[in-house]
Amino acid sequence: MKRFGILAYPASHSRSPEMHNAAFHALKIDALFEKYEIPPEKLQEFLEEKVRGEKKINGLAVSIPHKETIIPFLDTVDDSVQAIGACNTVYWKNNQLCGTNTDSYGFSKALSDTYNVTGKNILVVGAGGAARAVVYALLQDNAGSITITNRTKEKGRNFAQDFAVSFQEKGELEPEQYDLIVQTTPLGMQGGYEKISPLPSSFWRENHTAFDIVYTPEKTQFLLDAEGAGGTIISGKNMFLCQGMKQFEIWTGEKAPETIMRESI
Ligand code: ATR
Repeated sequence: MKRFGILAYPASHSRSPEMHNAAFHALKIDALFEKYEIPPEKLQEFLEEKVRGEKKINGLAVSIPHKETIIPFLDTVDDSVQAIGACNTVYWKNNQLCGTNTDSYGFSKALSDTYNVTGKNILVVGAGGAARAVVYALLQDNAGSITITNRTKEKGRNFAQDFAVSFQEKGELEPEQYDLIVQTTPLGMQGGYEKISPLPSSFWRENHTAFDIVYTPEKTQFLLDAEGAGGTIISGKNMFLCQGMKQFEIWTGEKAPETIMRESI
């Protein structure tokens, strides 16, 4: 039996096990998807002894706080990991432990189902690893303009410089300038940040489209505020599904069963 799992700390909130186990079951693949709750100081030991060990682990979904710190322990990473600086998927190829990032693909796929970014003015809230995956995707998809806003201004400015996009302080944002607003911080997430949005409810306009990468709950405060003002909303659930389908295809070489995976989450 092949073994896969989510590597995170904590890992309890993750819906990846339900999603991947449902897909393995549906395609009659002899594999199990587990939860590997590994604290930062045990990451190296886990990779050496478990992942590369005798009963090797065949693939990992990687989440907070390991997405960046895992990179030096892999044998090779692709362009997406290098550009984003974060790895969310680990797999074996030719006996090499490889890293890729399916978050940018998942974001791009989930968004493009209903929205075309070409020529649009986009505001991205946050400047962490998730924001890097989002901006990487938006640049590849020919977004019109991209503006970053972030709690810590210095970090936001550096991020904007890295990607050659703009930075704007939160207090100076002009809502009318943006078509699409993407939320990439943990604000709004179940377990501490519920009912909090990084933007005031007065920000929203009818012509806005709001995308939140947080998917628990499905409608965050950010999305509720946008919807309340008559805007269009896109839940992060689709991004989670799309990045997971891509992971499944990398690990198994099989087409991911979309309906089964969607229903499982
Ligand atoms: P990830 O890799 O998941 O994106 P990260 O690199 O820690 O995580 O980045 C988290 C982002 O959420 C950052 O933009 C962070 O803002 P700061 O740069 O000011 O830290 C933002 N963030 C996290 N907690 C926040 C909070 N309570 N209020 C506002 N922004 C927050």
